[in-house]
Amino acid sequence: MNLADTEIVLGILNKSGYSPTQAIDEADVVLLNTCSVREHAEEKIHQRLNVIRKQMAEKPELVVGVLGCMAERLRSSLMQRHNVDIVVGPDEYRKLPDLVDGAFTGSQGIGVRLSRTETYDDVTPFRSEGISAWISVMRGCDKFCTFCIVPFTRGRERSRTLTSVVAEVEQLVKQGFREITLLGQNVNSYIDSGHDFADLLSAVADVDPGLRVRFTTSHPQDLSDKLIDSIAAHDNLCNYIHLPVQSGSTRVLEAMNRTYTREHYLALVSKIRSRIPGVALSTDIISGFPTESEGEHKETLSLMEEVRYDGAYMFKYSPREGTPAYRLGDDIPEEVKARRLSEIISLQQKISGEVNESLVGNTMNVMVDGPSKKSELQMSGRTDTNKTVVFQAGQYKPGDLVLVKVERATSATLFGQVVGSLS
Ligand code: 5AD
Ligand code: SF4
Repeated sequence: MNLADTEIVLGILNKSGYSPTQAIDEADVVLLNTCSVREHAEEKIHQRLNVIRKQMAEKPELVVGVLGCMAERLRSSLMQRHNVDIVVGPDEYRKLPDLVDGAFTGSQGIGVRLSRTETYDDVTPFRSEGISAWISVMRGCDKFCTFCIVPFTRGRERSRTLTSVVAEVEQLVKQGFREITLLGQNVNSYIDSGHDFADLLSAVADVDPGLRVRFTTSHPQDLSDKLIDSIAAHDNLCNYIHLPVQSGSTRVLEAMNRTYTREHYLALVSKIRSRIPGVALSTDIISGFPTESEGEHKETLSLMEEVRYDGAYMFKYSPREGTPAYRLGDDIPEEVKARRLSEIISLQQKISGEVNESLVGNTMNVMVDGPSKKSELQMSGRTDTNKTVVFQAGQYKPGDLVLVKVERATSATLFGQVVGSLS
């Protein structure tokens, strides 16, 4: 989401005559787009700002700004702590050209009002070249999970119009993009004059049958049958769903205000698997939510064994001031949280390894990303189910579709030989 927002910020600034540079010593303006979801993400920004402050000492005219959720949460205190010039939250990026201009003449500027309507519908994001593009289709979140700061830093849910999203996708296809990811904190809340997210997904898939379409994130409570049917009906809607569970214990889920039970979640997974054969599922899991017992942690492990996710993003609970869970205290000792997290990570690695191993011998449809990270003799790409596949380099370019026979697998990567081409 922050990468997509950064492209929007670059789009706004580019229109006012600014252009990006990769070299920080060449920059006249440095803007950090930030995340508040866990303490660790914020600490990294504080450290980064300390480094930048040293650079500012050598170049006093440098304009430095903080954008995103930390700007929204910490507001003017960021100016006091780091002496930055600009602090702008997620809904006020249109003010950036004026605030940056003001900063050049020495004024500090702040924009942290949240909006019920801002979707940056008319802003053309400044995208780097490639085959994959993000499109943010809804902003904000009304779910108020008790651990989560996002509803406070990103404000209420609002959606872009279906016609503007489809027009943007048409444009991206013309420019050569081959894969689109529709983004939102909870895409299932998407609504535009009676069109829901399933309608939007179908409309985007219909733009070009050769375009791969992905989306994230879905809240398990409102992933509709209609959405499952849309994915099953369109070959180019990728068979991959990120479905954060957070915990395997109904008691903890209730304390988290997730509004579903373990049983509801497992029934949803069965329904998805029966209607979309071969679908890949990934999840988010939090270890050590306040009051989580050892038995409840084991329920998370047993849910993971039952679902057998293809992948997972796993975190230690991080208390966020202002959230309802903050008032529960942070009663699980650090070493217990860490041990539970490492059990969760080891189990997931074992499961991912087994799931990938079961694909050895299969021939998979792979979209080429480019040279592999490790060797120029190899290229890498991704399957429809979002698995990374490494194969011998050939005359393929990013965006090409090749058929790869899988010969070997680890928990993170499939390795194989190209046996045919689809493009
Ligand atoms: N502590 C730990 N993890 C969190 N997440 C959100 N808030 C917190 C928190 N306070 C995780 C959730 C969410 C993902 C984006 O970040 O798992 O799905
Ligand atoms: Fe946070 Fe819950 Fe909204 Fe996700 S659904 S952004 S975890 S409040």
